[in-house]
Order: sequence, then C-alpha cells, then structure tokens
Amino acid sequence: MRRLHLIEIEDQDWCPHSLRDAATDYLQCFFSATRIYEPIIPILGGVLRRAGSRGIVDLCSGAAGPWLWLQPALAESGVGVPVCLTDKYPNLEGFRRANRLTDRAIGYHPQPVDPMQVPASLPGFRTMFSAFHHFRPGQARAVLADAVRSGEGIAVFEATQRRPLAILFALLAPLGVFLVTPFIRPFRWSRLFWTYVVPLAPLVTLFDGVVSCLRTYSLQDMRDLADSLGSSGYQWEMGTVKGGRMPIPITYLVGAPVAKAA
Ligand SMILES: C[S@@+](CC[C@H](N)C(=O)[O-])C[C@H]1O[C@@H](n2cnc3c(N)ncnc32)[C@H](O)[C@@H]1O
Repeated sequence: MRRLHLIEIEDQDWCPHSLRDAATDYLQCFFSATRIYEPIIPILGGVLRRAGSRGIVDLCSGAAGPWLWLQPALAESGVGVPVCLTDKYPNLEGFRRANRLTDRAIGYHPQPVDPMQVPASLPGFRTMFSAFHHFRPGQARAVLADAVRSGEGIAVFEATQRRPLAILFALLAPLGVFLVTPFIRPFRWSRLFWTYVVPLAPLVTLFDGVVSCLRTYSLQDMRDLADSLGSSGYQWEMGTVKGGRMPIPITYLVGAPVAKAA
C-alpha cells in the first residue's frame, strides 16, 4: 500500500478546540488501556540511558498520550526523567491533569510548539507518539533535522500501519468512543456533546484513524528519511515491536548523537 498524505480533521485550524481535545482525550484513554507502547520501554529506556538524558520533550503530545503510565514505568526501570508535554494545539486540561497526577514529574509547555523548530528554551531528548505521520516527507525530515541541529536525541513511535488489519481497527474506533466516553477523565460536558448529541467525535476518530493508517511511514520510509539527513554524528536505529495488548506492531525510529549513544 502506498503512503497517501490526506488531511486529518484534527490538524485543521478550523477544527473546534473542544472537538480536537475530545479526540486526543480518547486516544490517551485508548493507548493507556491497551498499553500499546509498553514494549518500547527497553528501547526508549536504553537510548535515554546511553545518551545520559536528563529530560524528555514530548512533541505532538495530544492529551499526554502514553505518558501517565510510561513516565512511572521508565522511572521503575531506572530512567526517572521529567517529561515536558508540547503540541501545536496544546490540550491544556489534559496537560494539567497529567501534571497533577504525576506530582509534576510531567510538566508542559502552554504555548504552541513546532517540532520542526523546537525552541532552545526546551532542551531534552525528543519523543513523538502516533504523530510522525502528520508530517509530509519534507517536514518529517525537518523534524529529525531540527533534533540533529540541536544535538538532541529523538525517538518516534507509530502505532498505525498501512495495512488492512490496522485500518480494520481504525474502523472499529467509533464503537470504542461511544463506549468509553463517559469514563474518560478529565470530565468535560463538551466531550459528551461531541459524542452523543452531535456525534462528530466518533466520526473524526474514524476518519482521522483511517487517514493516519494511510499516511504512516513504513520502516523503509523511516530508514530513507534518516539516511537522507547525512547525520554522520548520529546513530539511528529502527524496527518494529509487538504493540502491547494490540496485534498491530509499533514502528519506531530512534536517533542519538554517537558520542552520547555509544
Ligand atoms: C494522533 S494525535 C497523538 C497525540 C499523542 N501523542 C498520543 O499518542 O495520544 C496527534 C497530535 O499531533 C498534533 N499535531 C498535529 N500536527 C502538528 C504539528 N504540525 N505540530 C505540532 N503538533 C501537531 C495534534 O494536535 C495532536 O495532538
């Protein structure tokens, strides 16, 4: 299946903030329940340890993605680093909740952050969960190049794939939205409105989920992007690992300065 760069509704400036937040809240809940990123702990923990990283800047964080359980799990594995959540459209309620629940081990940047130009005031190893496909090839390359230019490590993890099974799961997502919405925290009336009164949240989740699958970079695409950087001072690793309680593997690309990663 070829990569198709169609638009996602949540990426559009005209998408109501509360609708986008309802969609990213659901993703956060889904990724926590399925522990889909659990198998990446040794990969991320390993590179953070080798790079001697003191902190993480998470890009395109949505409603905190996997961090509510991942930050403590990393700490338990001996890599106790603080995390700073960022996004182009910060989900501030989700960010504040993560901050509160982790006793501030998870912080956040309240202003929009462009992963292609991360401000120097946000130093740290960069991570990106389920968002690399939002960037066209030139932009995806710019995301990696900005990390290299800043001398920071970067790890990209994708839970979608350009495969029929992944698309099938995306087609089932609206059912999940209808079932779990009343249990998602923080509670918001707007989330109930966008799910049960004007059911755009399940529709956006369906549409964006299928488009995400079609836009996802394959392992070979990721290898080509990393090779195109000509970043001789960087060590790149890529691969797939089984995705927690899900049958869809996680595709990852991890890079860190050789001096630090060796
Ligand atoms: C599919 S969500 C993933 C959220 C989160 N990482 C997770 O795993 O649940 C994609 C996120 O990328 C953000 N995003 C999309 N385009 C962006 C851009 N150009 N710059 C920064 N963030 C962007 C969206 O606002 C959204 O929160």
